[in-house]
Amino acid sequence: MRDFTFQNATKVIFGRGAEEKVGVETAALARKALLHFGGGSVRKSGLYDRIVASLAEAGVDVVALGGVKPNPRLSLVKEGIALCRREKVDAVIAVGGGSVIDSAKAIALGAPADVPLWDFFEGKARPDRALPIGVVLTLPAAGSETSPVSVITNERGLYKKGFRNGLLRPRFALLNPELTFTLPPEQTGAGAVDMLAHVMERYFTNERDVELTDRLCEATMRTIIANLPRALADPRDYAARAELMWASTIAHNDLLDTGREGDWASHKIEHELSALYDVAHGIGLAVVFPAWMSHVVDHDRSRFAQFAHRVWDVEPDFFDPGRTAREGIARFVAFLRSCGLPTTLRELAIGDDRFGEMARKAVEAGPIGTFVPLGEDDVRTILEGCR
Ligand code: NZQ
Ligand code: ZN
Repeated sequence: MRDFTFQNATKVIFGRGAEEKVGVETAALARKALLHFGGGSVRKSGLYDRIVASLAEAGVDVVALGGVKPNPRLSLVKEGIALCRREKVDAVIAVGGGSVIDSAKAIALGAPADVPLWDFFEGKARPDRALPIGVVLTLPAAGSETSPVSVITNERGLYKKGFRNGLLRPRFALLNPELTFTLPPEQTGAGAVDMLAHVMERYFTNERDVELTDRLCEATMRTIIANLPRALADPRDYAARAELMWASTIAHNDLLDTGREGDWASHKIEHELSALYDVAHGIGLAVVFPAWMSHVVDHDRSRFAQFAHRVWDVEPDFFDPGRTAREGIARFVAFLRSCGLPTTLRELAIGDDRFGEMARKAVEAGPIGTFVPLGEDDVRTILEGCR
């Protein structure tokens, strides 16, 4: 196990009615807040009005900016930054899923900065301050509610990049599973794949003697696998929605990272897909992850065999761990398909004409992944395996 520092300071308030705390929690940070949201689901459900009422009751002035699209765009972030400066806003409150939260984080970072925001994403500058961020989560998936990461798409050149800094970790996250009852099956499924992917990126590591985090990863994956079908069968199943919502946070709050090194190559490849084709992140991962697994399985068959046995209940073949390993990948794919998720690019109507471009962009800053470092040819081969 590696040495590590673990610090996750986000205050999580979980359960029915959690969103009603938004006024009190924000008032402890700010007098005037930017309320940031997406394309309409929060207005339709009545959540928007309840949030505004809670903030008003706590004496917080509100400036609203909606319209965040999935795979959030830099242009709207810039609009938000200008609005925050003009209105002298001192906190940003995100009401939505990962895209809204990431957009809110980028605004909070850019508003007090004296360099262009994208310089941070390109590693040309380091921030020393950001506005405080609060979250009301409506979609368990990205884990952005407690992560220190913002992922933004720059329409110029279609670059989708993540930026990680402790300043971006939300001060509070309000998690009410009932707010997820309105999620359509595609979003519920895509969200669960993203959570599984966050665990798997950490699970497939070269680090030895990581028994506790292996077991935590396995428990998180098994919980997601057990509860996704329940939530799909009955969208108002509170118990299943609650398990998924907490799994979203646990999968990506850095606890499962402790003492080990994550891979993240599949995420980088998926970000190229989202950037060019605007696919939902979780759907892209459902396509990329199995192909990545098939590409790297021989690097450590026993780890893949452990995944197969402990997560997918595959009977181990002690004479042929490779067979056990491959059966685990097959069960993962079968599970995705049983939940109605696509696992090939063909199903997304994406051809092979831009594989070269995606592979080149994915490794622009050098090889990706740590479990098996991948170069341009590997990424291309993996994309070919996604067909
Ligand atoms: O825009 P509205 O109308 O609100 O609709 C949204 C959106 O269309 C809808 N939705 C959200 N909550 C709903 C709802 N519909 C009905 N009922 C509700 N309760 O869902 C759609 C998708 O939302 P989005 O926020 O895009 O999904 P998700 O949470 O999966 O976020 C994806 C983004 O997060 C990034 C991804 O790359 C992608 O851009 N990620 C961020 C990470 C981070 N910051 O740590 C890590 C992840 O790996 C990921 O890269
Ligand atoms: Zn993800």
